[in-house]
Amino acid sequence: MRLFSNPLPCILLAAVTAFGLFGVAWAQSPTYGLGKTPTPAEIHAWDISIGPEGKELPPGSGTAKEGAQLFADKCAACHGATGSGGPAPMLIKPAIAPKKPLPCLSPCIGPGNVMALHSPYATTIWDYIHRAMPFGQEGTLKPDEVYALTAFLLYKNGVIKEDDVLNQQTLPQIKMPNRNGYAIPNWKPGMPRPFPNER
Ligand code: HEC
Repeated sequence: MRLFSNPLPCILLAAVTAFGLFGVAWAQSPTYGLGKTPTPAEIHAWDISIGPEGKELPPGSGTAKEGAQLFADKCAACHGATGSGGPAPMLIKPAIAPKKPLPCLSPCIGPGNVMALHSPYATTIWDYIHRAMPFGQEGTLKPDEVYALTAFLLYKNGVIKEDDVLNQQTLPQIKMPNRNGYAIPNWKPGMPRPFPNER
């Protein structure tokens, strides 16, 4: 009985037994009869990735003017009223460089490194806001709102004009300033890796 006066061996024994049974059940039974095959509609609801050509973009539209109000209401608390200087990453390049610049997020294209300037495709910004923002309330923005917020960030960073209308057709056509900044020159499959530390 001395053994069982200490709870630890009991817990260990129970854990080992449970694990052993689980292991046997796993090996013998190919299925638990749980869950169900997702329908195409369910898969479609999860499949929210937007490629560079924007083929997956939903209908909708928005302008920077519409985005300005949305930004103030839903984004400024974390990203700062001016899009910089808040606790969350900088989204709008400040007119005057901050005295203590934040660490440059990768990929870093220099000071004023914001997604609207370093991203090679405007569709990436739409995808990011749609899937991940506002932080903690992801998935609540409607397509029109995401078009408007994307337009606002691109306008404020000098990539598009204030009354440019962004939609399924116009968003993928935006010529991003860092479009060619990601190309690795003179490298072909089979050649040594240009960055030896990366796997
Ligand atoms: C509760 C705080 C919070 C709110 C509200 C919020 N964000 Fe963010 N945002 C963050 C944080 C934190 C990150 C960094 C996330 C990471 O790197 O994993 C981020 C990252 C981003 C980025 C990517 C920045 C980069 O350079 O990588 C964009 C774009 C963005 N937010 C847009 C928005 C927009 C548009 C809204 C309003 C609809 C919004 N955010 C609201 C906290 C917030």
